[in-house]
Amino acid sequence: MGVRKAAITAVGHYAPDKILTNADLEKMIDTNDEWIRTRTGIRERRIMENGASSDMAVKAIENLLSRRNMSASEIEVIIVATVTPDMFFPATACLVQQKIGATKAWGFDLSAACSGFLFALTTGAKLVESGTYSKVLVVGTDKMSSIVDYTDRNTCILFGDAAGAVLLEPGTEDGYGIIDSKFYVDGSGGRYLCMTGGGSLNPPSHETVDKKMHYIYQDGKNVYKLAVKGMADVSVEIMDRNGLKGEDVAWLVPHQANLRIIDATAERMGIRREQVMINIEKYGNTTAATIPLCLSEWWECGKLKKGQNIVLAAFGAGYTWGATYVKWSLVNPQKP
Ligand code: COA
Repeated sequence: MGVRKAAITAVGHYAPDKILTNADLEKMIDTNDEWIRTRTGIRERRIMENGASSDMAVKAIENLLSRRNMSASEIEVIIVATVTPDMFFPATACLVQQKIGATKAWGFDLSAACSGFLFALTTGAKLVESGTYSKVLVVGTDKMSSIVDYTDRNTCILFGDAAGAVLLEPGTEDGYGIIDSKFYVDGSGGRYLCMTGGGSLNPPSHETVDKKMHYIYQDGKNVYKLAVKGMADVSVEIMDRNGLKGEDVAWLVPHQANLRIIDATAERMGIRREQVMINIEKYGNTTAATIPLCLSEWWECGKLKKGQNIVLAAFGAGYTWGATYVKWSLVNPQKP
C-alpha cells in the first residue's frame, strides 16, 4: 500500500421544494426567460422558505448517512463550507453537529465562497491522509436567498439554495481517492463580488441596511472574465501535472455559476459536453453546494463509476479558484 489517500465513500444532497422560475422572476423585475437562459443557462432555482443553511446541511447529511447505513455518532470531523452561515457565530458546523447528533465530532466553518467546497474537501482529505481521522464529513451549504436583493436583476436571477455533503474515509486501494489539488486566491478581486455590510468593517446599522450593504454586490463582467480564465487555467494545470488528456477524464464537475463559463472551461480541457456535469438549469448558482450536489445526483442515477477520473473545478468571490483531481472509488448504487 502506498501513501494513504482519502476517498469519497458516501454522498448526499438536499434542495428545498419551493421553485422560483424565470417566469416568476419576470413578475418581480424587468427581465425575461430568454435573456436569463441565453446568458446563464438557468431556468429555475430552489428557495429555502423555513430554516437556515444548517437545516439544509442536516438534510443532505441525513441523505448521506442513510445511503451509507451509518450513524452520525461515528463522524469525527464536520467541515462546513458556506458564505451564509446561520449566524456569525457559533459556527454552522457546531449547529449541524448538535442537530444530527454527531456526539464525537469536532468541526469548523470554512469561507471561500463558490470555491468553498473544494477548499474544504482538500482540507478534510489532509486530515484523513495524516492518519489522525477516519470519518470526515465535508458539507457545502448556502441559503443564497438570504443575501440576494430580489429587486436587483443583475444578481437575483443567478442564485439559489441547496446543500451537498460527502464523507471522506481512508482509501482502501492504491491510486484511488482525492489525488491532487491546486488552489489560488487573489484578494485584489475582492471588491468585484462581495457583501460589504454586517461585518467588522461596516457593522450593521440603519445606514448599511438603507444602502443595501447586506446583499450581494457583483460586477458581473469582471467576475465573468476572471472566472472563465481562472477555472479553465487551473483545470488544465491539474490535468497536465497528472498526465491527463481530455479523453482520460470521465467527468468535469464544474462549479455551476454560468453555463457559458462551464462551456469555456470544458473546451479548454478538450472535454465534450456529455462529459460535463450540468444541473445549473434546475438550481442556479448554489455557491458552496454546486459541486457536491452534482456528485450526489450523478452517483444516484448510476453515472459515476468506480475508477473514473474526475476533475472538480471552481471559481468564486475572493477571488478564489482551484481544481481537484479525484479517482472515483465509490461503487454505484444497485439499480433495480
Ligand atoms: N434581465 C434582462 N436584462 C438584464 C438583466 C436581466 N436579469 N441583467 C442585466 N441586464 C441587462 C444589463 O442591464 C445590460 O443592459 P444595458 O446594456 O442596457 O446596460 C445588458 O443586460 C447586458 O448586461 P451585461 O452585464 O453586459 O450582461 P452579461 O452578458 O455580462 O451577463 C451576467 C451578465 C451576470 C450573466 C454575467 O456577467 C455573468 O454571468 N457573470 C459572472 C457571474 C458569476 O459567475 N458569478 C458568480 C461567480 S462564482
